[in-house]
Amino acid sequence: MSFSWTQQRRDAAIDSLEQSSWLRHTEWLLETDSTNTHARRQLAAGLGRWPALFVADRQTAGRGRNTRSWWSPEGCLMLSLVVGQEQLPSDPALWPQLSLVTGVAVATAVEAEAPQSDVKLKWPNDLYVQSRKLAGILVEAIPQAVDGQMAFVIGIGLNVAVDWSRADIELRGRACSMSQFADRDVSVESVLLRLMEHLEHWLGSWRAGETAWWQQWCDRSLLSGCSVQLQLGSSQQLIGDCEGIDRAGRLLIRDSEHLHHIQSADVLAWQLRP
Ligand code: BTN
Repeated sequence: MSFSWTQQRRDAAIDSLEQSSWLRHTEWLLETDSTNTHARRQLAAGLGRWPALFVADRQTAGRGRNTRSWWSPEGCLMLSLVVGQEQLPSDPALWPQLSLVTGVAVATAVEAEAPQSDVKLKWPNDLYVQSRKLAGILVEAIPQAVDGQMAFVIGIGLNVAVDWSRADIELRGRACSMSQFADRDVSVESVLLRLMEHLEHWLGSWRAGETAWWQQWCDRSLLSGCSVQLQLGSSQQLIGDCEGIDRAGRLLIRDSEHLHHIQSADVLAWQLRP
């Protein structure tokens, strides 16, 4: 009974994705190593229809940023969306904003499904609720995808209804799921459909030259007002006060000498200033 209900919900979600006027290719996999790796293999094999969506129930080698791994249990929505130049602004200088715009789409989709959630965005692309990580985003550029065209693989891992009892103790203490703060049942399928609507909206707005994503991002900025420690490259660190992000999406860090505009870094630690 519960299996058939789950299966019906799954079939309905797949139908809805296949009828989407935006998506041009959809695959729902029972298991793969990593949806990002799978999407990259499909691109290497000549997939040229995008946006293309790859969703998996299980990943055996889920990847995070900076060679970290991503724990990929049932109840976590794991997907990769491939976008090409048709979905991007014509100016390549704006492309580094893609992961921030994606963060806004994930945050607004989560809020639409669980309205009382207080979602924060941690630069460059993590989502937090009540100081615990809810979702992570891994964007990978594929410079010569098909016919010399640029493509990006946008990987999203979003904890919808994860059973944390099987997670290691350290992860249990720093992660959370939508089901912990939603006032109704949330399913991977309903969150996925909502997320696709929000990605279509926010990527379309960004491509059209609108900058509404920036205010949405700033309104949810976790690090603004915090003292932060950053790793820049392999050997340099920076400690300073975060003043949000600029309109290009760079992190603003003030130390005793300068206001730094940081394009890329790993955030090692942060705490609210006293
Ligand atoms: C991070 O927090 O460092 C980013 C995590 C991204 C995880 C998602 S799960 C779906 C997609 N496939 C992967 O292997 N990684 C991304």
